[in-house]
Amino acid sequence: MRRSYMAGNWKMNNTRSEALALVKELLDNGSFKNKVLIAPSYTALDAVSKAVEGTELILGAQNMSTDESGAHTGEISPVMLKDLGVEVVILGHSERRAIYGETDKIINIKVHLALKHKLDVIFCVGETLDEREGGLAEKIVTDQVVEGLKGISEDQLSAITIAYEPVWAIGTGKTATPEDADDIHKVIRTKIENIFSKNAADNVIIQYGGSVKPANVKELMAKPNIDGALVGGAALKAETFIPIMEYNK
Ligand code: 13P
Repeated sequence: MRRSYMAGNWKMNNTRSEALALVKELLDNGSFKNKVLIAPSYTALDAVSKAVEGTELILGAQNMSTDESGAHTGEISPVMLKDLGVEVVILGHSERRAIYGETDKIINIKVHLALKHKLDVIFCVGETLDEREGGLAEKIVTDQVVEGLKGISEDQLSAITIAYEPVWAIGTGKTATPEDADDIHKVIRTKIENIFSKNAADNVIIQYGGSVKPANVKELMAKPNIDGALVGGAALKAETFIPIMEYNK
């Protein structure tokens, strides 16, 4: 049985004091039957790390460098994230791919580096609107899975969660229908079976992301291949994130 995994990607929001106030509300008022992660921006990681220490709230980062150290102005290494108590890193988010030009190859390097440093990974894939309308959604997502996970062993896969985030559904208020989302999740699971094994496919957690909110989480999570959510906008307020993180499959 796969344990539901709800993650809040705060993106470029929340100062340290805002982050701490939100964490306090989540800890005071939320419950943690599901696995729950928050990914604040880098500047709030240290403060949030101290606030979540010893609690069930898992600390994630939103990105990291392809390298461990050196001449990479403006980048953050996995060693630095570990030093702050970060346990998970989100890699391959569509905003990293589209705005900052991250390719499958770059993302694959990051996945390997994160695992080397014992960071778990939320690995994001998803098609654009043009790709979906062109009938390419399955191919794009499958290619991203194959390329992003190249060279990963079945053992290592247990540290990886996959997040399917159709780009056209992110921050737009448009959600994939639960059926459409589940179809792609099934495609991903089948690909994992082809690359690794049936056991790997049965165990891999696949989150859906893209305008998840309290009003639609139930119908999405009811689908057999949807194991959790990667949430943007609705993760920024306790009143909208708590009903999502507490959702009971
Ligand atoms: P929204 O929930 O705001 O659509 O964002 C989804 C997302 O990109 C999470 O990583």
